[in-house]
Amino acid sequence: MERFDVAVIGGGAAGLYCAGIAGQRGLKVVVLDHARKLAEKIRISGGGRCNFTNRAGADPSRYLSGDPDFARPALAAHPPEAFIAQVKARGIGYHEKHRGQLFCDTASQRIIDLLLDGCARGRVSVRHPVEVVAVTQPAAASAVKRDEAGRSGAGRVRFELQTSAGVLAARHLVIATGGLSIPAIGASDFGWRLAAAWGLRTVAPRAGLVPFTITDPAWEPFAALSGLSLPVRIGVAGLAEARFDEDLLLTHRGLSGPAALQISSFWRPGQTLAINLLPDFDAAQALLAIRAGRADAAAGPGARLSTVVGGWLPRRLAAVWLAHPGGAAGARGIRMPAAEDRMAACAEDGLRRVGQALAAWNVRPAGTEGYRKAEVTVGGVATSELDPRTLECHRVPGCHFIGEVVDVTGWLGGYNFQWAWSSGYAAALAMSSGR
Ligand code: FDA
Repeated sequence: MERFDVAVIGGGAAGLYCAGIAGQRGLKVVVLDHARKLAEKIRISGGGRCNFTNRAGADPSRYLSGDPDFARPALAAHPPEAFIAQVKARGIGYHEKHRGQLFCDTASQRIIDLLLDGCARGRVSVRHPVEVVAVTQPAAASAVKRDEAGRSGAGRVRFELQTSAGVLAARHLVIATGGLSIPAIGASDFGWRLAAAWGLRTVAPRAGLVPFTITDPAWEPFAALSGLSLPVRIGVAGLAEARFDEDLLLTHRGLSGPAALQISSFWRPGQTLAINLLPDFDAAQALLAIRAGRADAAAGPGARLSTVVGGWLPRRLAAVWLAHPGGAAGARGIRMPAAEDRMAACAEDGLRRVGQALAAWNVRPAGTEGYRKAEVTVGGVATSELDPRTLECHRVPGCHFIGEVVDVTGWLGGYNFQWAWSSGYAAALAMSSGR
């Protein structure tokens, strides 16, 4: 039976990074992945240019987790600068987009090459496609064997892996099988099943960073604006903790774009989205000022409401929105002004309601596009089962869970890859320093 110090299941972002570091620190490492092509998620990420981290820093405030502080030690020990230094050292061109997001200048393949090169330098054996059929924990310690490089292979076998390519033994096991999104490129629930078999607590998975679907017939006029995008402030009604200032994209099926993706990780079925279409100013005050002729704006009391709102929002959206303001706009018997009314002729209460509704457009999604389109899976192996400094499982000594399979989910913006790098580094360091 082949023996290794470390067997890593999952050759994606976290698994390859962890394996390379562990190998470079003298451990004999094997990576097993069932996919025909490795690291496909990296390849398709960031529109093919991999948003590999975020220069603005990664701290727990950028992550969803049952224990928001859990990610802190790993992120602090291996922050974005540490990964950026490696990207620079390899001469990979990159640029900053929105709010610190770093993307490759050319292709995501450059990041995959960085990881594979790290594995090569660590003499890691990367094997795929290989199915892991079962993982067992033999009770007895095994003999030490050394390979030609003088590496032991396994001081004490704690895990045996039955695979489609034979049986392997290892002292440490790393579960880096990722989340459930995009099953077509290798995602599986392996990590959840293994955790359940060991009696570990898991947080039920749900799709995150995913577009919304809206089936209400009242959405039809907005669906006709598919492709239109605008900056908004988005939240979930009644949930103060999450608010994002991002671009919202209207689609045939509902809502997408960074604003929708960000808030989707916080949204639960049945909840309503609260969308401020004019986050930069108080629309109600501005409408009243124009009506009274007090505004500096080009529009005055003689302007039509549609012209004023059409100067603030994309014109096509303004027209549809004024015809279907929805939400609270028509409530409490207040007569809403018509789109073609002159400002001076609009009742003050009506204008106030229009302004308030523009700041709190309530939209109730039917659901999301699910794992088929989700960038991440929210949930995973409960953080209470793991040591935050080493990612080692308290109840299964020698086994580390890293990356997206853990209940730590980043915001959009490179934070998920950063968690893959930081958690992979923490596990590699712990294994190689014998912790
Ligand atoms: P990852 O999914 O990378 O790797 C898991 C590996 O395990 C896969 O290779 C899989 O084949 C393998 N595996 C699964 N089950 C197995 C089994 N039973 N046996 C053997 N192998 C198994 N994040 C970000 O920070 N910036 C970005 O730009 C993007 N963009 C993006 C776009 C799209 C379309 C998606 C779907 C996702 C993103 N992400 C992202 C998220 C990011 O890709 C993700 O969080 C990381 O890849 C997670 O890294 P892991 O190594 O944990 O899983």
